[in-house]
Amino acid sequence: MCGIVGYVGPRPAPELLISSLQRLEYRGYDSAGIAVPDGGGLAVLKSPGKVRTLGDRVRSEWAPALREGARAGIAHTRWATHGPPTQANAHPHCDQSGRIALVHNGIIENYADIRRQLEAQGHTFASQTDSEVLCHLVGEYYRDGDLLQAVCAAMRHAEGTLGIAVLCADRPDQLIIARRGSPIVIGIGDDETVVASDAAAIVAHTNRVIYLNDDDVAVVTAGSVEVRTAQNVPVSREVAKLEWDSEAAEKGGFAHFMLKEIFEQPDAIRNSTRGRLDEGAGTAKLGGLAMAPREIAEIGRMVMVACGTSMHAGLVGRFLFEDLADLPADVEQAAEFRYRNPILSPRDLVLAISQSGETADTLAAVREAKQKGAVIAGLCNVVGSTIARETGRGVYLHAGPEIGVASTKAFTCQVSVLLMMALKFGRCRRLSRDRGVEICRAIAALPDAAARVLEQNDAIAKIAAKYAAIRDIFYIGRGTMYPVALEGALKLKEISYIHAEGYHAAELKHGPIAMLEPVVPVLAIATDTPGREKMVGNIQECRARHSPVIAVVSGDDRQFDDMAADVIRVPACPALTAPIPVAIALQLFAYHVARLKGCEIDQPRNLAKSVTVE
Ligand code: F6R
Repeated sequence: MCGIVGYVGPRPAPELLISSLQRLEYRGYDSAGIAVPDGGGLAVLKSPGKVRTLGDRVRSEWAPALREGARAGIAHTRWATHGPPTQANAHPHCDQSGRIALVHNGIIENYADIRRQLEAQGHTFASQTDSEVLCHLVGEYYRDGDLLQAVCAAMRHAEGTLGIAVLCADRPDQLIIARRGSPIVIGIGDDETVVASDAAAIVAHTNRVIYLNDDDVAVVTAGSVEVRTAQNVPVSREVAKLEWDSEAAEKGGFAHFMLKEIFEQPDAIRNSTRGRLDEGAGTAKLGGLAMAPREIAEIGRMVMVACGTSMHAGLVGRFLFEDLADLPADVEQAAEFRYRNPILSPRDLVLAISQSGETADTLAAVREAKQKGAVIAGLCNVVGSTIARETGRGVYLHAGPEIGVASTKAFTCQVSVLLMMALKFGRCRRLSRDRGVEICRAIAALPDAAARVLEQNDAIAKIAAKYAAIRDIFYIGRGTMYPVALEGALKLKEISYIHAEGYHAAELKHGPIAMLEPVVPVLAIATDTPGREKMVGNIQECRARHSPVIAVVSGDDRQFDDMAADVIRVPACPALTAPIPVAIALQLFAYHVARLKGCEIDQPRNLAKSVTVE
């Protein structure tokens, strides 16, 4: 949930580290820090608050000779887990000698034991973090100038997850990088090396990267990368090409990453579906699943495991697998799944849905499913992510980097891919070719439908202005629009801090209706999809309690004009694809409400992209 950057090369490291760190700020933003070699020792600067504050302090507190002269360094942006976001708890941390600095993502589970042992040996600690303990451990193992073996020994001693970059004053021209369960990417430039926990910090410098495997340790200099296992055995890792260009990690003229990503959806969906539809055969081609038709036909049950927005996509997917593939489908909150002793069989396909591919609970659910002998597959956006690797088969979204903390394009691309999977599975089972052709056409029309919702941006912004001062709101939907209502409510609460609850429309009168009053609006998804007629009744129930209703309707549907205080129009679509335009409309509504409230949309309070802790 934090961000790491490291650099070795001919350019002044501090400025490069700060600007690269800013590209990772979406991963965590409560404190930041930097360490560079300085006259035979190390200069370390840490600051609570945003990376901007750290950058200002580097410029004002570090002498020009240090700012211009340092040719290597490590930096970190933090999302607090162990200890509040203070200067002392910010990374980099130093070892007892002050000559080794380390930045860390992940959690060291046995840190309390290690800390006690080291304290008994005379170590003193400046912070409450597990990361500082890890750095002291590296320092404890550091002998005869061999930092690599010290990091390997510390890795063997420390339990838990880690992505680290280590800098030592004795070797100012090299970094040691290691990974276990927390990603690290090494970018290979022209006579320079940039390492980061996330490709977003690397794309501006190079598109040639090495993804470390778990328990890999690497020694990097400006011109070389040498990878070893934690047992210090050399291994070779291939150099891959980053799919993204540097523009993908920029705002490109939009006020926020979130808005940019909302507007990217026509292209993102196009990229997700490109080359994967076979209209002639009425099916989808998803080579990464590596499943023969016979294997697909033999699946007995789909179990989707995911968290947050990805779980909402899974809830839409459940309808699709049941409808198109005649396949029983369950969706499980990943943390619940992993701790519940789930019953699985070798005929179950467990599909992990995760934008980042790093969510701790989803990863643990994958491991549990593997242990129990189920077939596993991943649906991830980030190439080379841990879940993508551990599942070994699956489908990438190809949605491009999602930087906004509130997930938008990942959701619509996840639903698009689930639709293609359900189509493919259906065609291996009972779905007719004609129906398959129809669905292919509906999927192919999605980018255009997404673009048409975006044309409603101004209209939706006007409606949002009427609701920017509310404190509570309910979102209701039926069928596939029920998960879309959950997702719409999640978007609004995470970026505007308005209390928004998503409910199945039928559930309203089983309790929540007690909350309705004139200051509590209800956003009702009343599109031309199954359940619409029942939704008419639900809207009347809300009106009878004097709640203003915002109705989301298909195309030119006028039936709700008199019932609703406001109407949001989305293009009419076949029922199976309709969740996508509606989700986009709700993203825009949430965005404009948050903008009008002056909220920090790309960095909502308490949140971070990619939840790598339980
Ligand atoms: C909400 C949001 C989160 C994520 C959740 C899972 O906007 O982004 O709810 O969807 O943390 O993340 P991934 O998909 O990376 O596993």
